[in-house]
Amino acid sequence: MTPDIRPLVAGNWKMNGTRENLDQIKAIADGVTEDMAARIDALICPPVTLLYVATALAEDGALQIGAQDCHSEKSGAFTGDVSAEMISDCQASHVLVGHSERRTLHGESDADVQAKAVAARRAGLVRIICIGETEAERKSGATLDVLGRQLAGSVPDDATASDTVIAYEPVWAIGTGLTPTITDVAEAHAFIRAEMEQRFAGEGAKMRLLYGGSVKPSNATELLGVTHVDGALIGGASLKADDFLAICNACVSLQG
Ligand code: PGA
Repeated sequence: MTPDIRPLVAGNWKMNGTRENLDQIKAIADGVTEDMAARIDALICPPVTLLYVATALAEDGALQIGAQDCHSEKSGAFTGDVSAEMISDCQASHVLVGHSERRTLHGESDADVQAKAVAARRAGLVRIICIGETEAERKSGATLDVLGRQLAGSVPDDATASDTVIAYEPVWAIGTGLTPTITDVAEAHAFIRAEMEQRFAGEGAKMRLLYGGSVKPSNATELLGVTHVDGALIGGASLKADDFLAICNACVSLQG
């Protein structure tokens, strides 16, 4: 954690969930109590098919709802795509951009990710910009070079702490049950913080830096306790309300 930075615990449902899973969103919304919301922000990013219903379910509480990706254009002949404005129209507040599954499976470059980040802000959404090294990059000692390049290419020049969140997700840790050592997480987050401070001064010092990749209730306290880890981006463990709320509670406990 970083003193004076309000943590964000975010869930990414990926391509999981149909209407029958809305009970989990309701349970999470109910579990994000006023006490919890006084200390942390909690966010769930369901598939876009559930977005509008999810925001309605969460309307009276503190749980925030976001999307997992957006197109860079406002509208047009882009079959199957969803614009940031459409996401905003669903009353969502956040959008993930540059998740490694988008970078790998859809060939998104840093420039594509930056264009989506610009679109997100245009539509009034907070953008969670994801970065992370592959296993081969880690093994060859290139991790910090890769992170530096992704930050330089993906984060727009006008980013502020209120409109931008950075999520560090080692690709090899996503969905595998593997996590980096605490030392490695600390090194990556200290590097990202230094890069953001160098580029954005005070805004970079306040920007939230999330860790993602196999976060679960049993390792959340350790990972969230690392300096400059200001929250988590959670895939698998966000699908079950109990697990997601346990991670939120671990974060609250660390807030003292
Ligand atoms: P995981 O996914 O928690 O299932 O590893 C994290 C992510 O892809 O955001």
